[in-house]
Amino acid sequence: MNAKLVNGFSRWTKDEKIEWLTQSYLNRDDEARNTLLQYWNPNKKLQGLHDDFIENALSNYYLPYGVAPNFIIDGIPYALPMVTEESSVVAAASNAAKFWSEKGGFSTEIVGTQKCGQVHLRYQGNQALLQSFFDAYKQDLIGSLDQLQANMKKRGGGLVDLELQDLTEHLDDYYQLHATFETGDAMGANFINSCLEQLATRLEQLALTYQGFEASGVRPQVVMSILSNYVPDCRVKAKVSCTVKELAQAGVDGDHFAQDFVKAIAMARENVYRAVTHNKGIMNGIDAVIVATGNDFRAVEAGVHAYASRDGQYRSLTNAWIDNNEIFHFELEVPLALGTVGGLTRLHPLVGVSMKILNQPDAKQLMRLVAVAGLAQNFAAVKSLVTTGIQKGHMKMHLLNILNQLGADEKEKGAAIDYFEKETVSHSSVSNYLDTLRS
Ligand code: MEV
Repeated sequence: MNAKLVNGFSRWTKDEKIEWLTQSYLNRDDEARNTLLQYWNPNKKLQGLHDDFIENALSNYYLPYGVAPNFIIDGIPYALPMVTEESSVVAAASNAAKFWSEKGGFSTEIVGTQKCGQVHLRYQGNQALLQSFFDAYKQDLIGSLDQLQANMKKRGGGLVDLELQDLTEHLDDYYQLHATFETGDAMGANFINSCLEQLATRLEQLALTYQGFEASGVRPQVVMSILSNYVPDCRVKAKVSCTVKELAQAGVDGDHFAQDFVKAIAMARENVYRAVTHNKGIMNGIDAVIVATGNDFRAVEAGVHAYASRDGQYRSLTNAWIDNNEIFHFELEVPLALGTVGGLTRLHPLVGVSMKILNQPDAKQLMRLVAVAGLAQNFAAVKSLVTTGIQKGHMKMHLLNILNQLGADEKEKGAAIDYFEKETVSHSSVSNYLDTLRS
């Protein structure tokens, strides 16, 4: 067998896996091997916990865990924990938080908390017959979830509605059971998927003995059952507003700034090239808090971008306008399916710290906080873009990365930080500066 292919790999010990990887893919590179080992946590219990998160874990991959202070959200002060590799993200969030804390802070509104999932069906028979079957057995299908739902119902959640949808206009023979759920403080993926699989099993059982199908010889077949990460009815708004005058920036009057800002948002609404980058900036804030709180950023990303395209064109998720030439408004509305129980939220010790920092939020409160992180991040980005340009602040934050890449010691870093306070940062300017310093 080719040495690069293996059998039964997942059952090997971690040492055996690393040994094999070093031999087969790393050309016996000890440095790479040692780097993997170097990131093991000496606390065996903690390391074991992380090893159990995924299959074939070899090491830990660190990302910085930071905090953006000075947020006022619905009147309450917060410091938002953020996990990100991008140097300017936490600084930008902190900057926007401070700016708005002096103007009353952020306010939020939960628009909805319903999630959904589908049992996807193939059915080649008569549509009216399938509908009669569904109408006759809808309560039976719902009843089949009694046991699964018992705990969730105690927490105020559970199945909210079940519909049969005809999708044959889009694809031949395609129908679905569309199920809507409330999942309380859980993100709810496991609960929803278990309910959908139960509905699918019960549907197949009932279809087997349904006389109408018996006569036609055609029954609905379950193709798959899965939650949807598109959650337009699980949505939150975050907002800020102030007088146009209060928006004055160094060297730019408030009116001029507000006009440019509103124009920039309108451009991101109309132009997909700009919209994607604009929304990426929003996700810089959203993802960082989502990762810090142990939530599923891929689910959120997928759902948010689908929502941004809901009218057929991908558009900005934020909106800005000026009322009566006087009051500036800036808003973000996003779908966010988040949990504060279940999943990693109670397993990862740093997630535990995040939850403590945030005063043990429930899922709705976490939706509010995450949306604010997105709005703040977008405000900081667009503010820079329409005034100084993004590179000034971005490269300042990137300075330490460049210095580290160039092997600067602590003394050189200190000197460079002072020097670049007033100079433009680029890879070559920092490299030249270090050369001069060292000679
Ligand atoms: C960089 O990570 C994010 C920005 O490009 C966002 C934007 O352009 O609005 C600065």
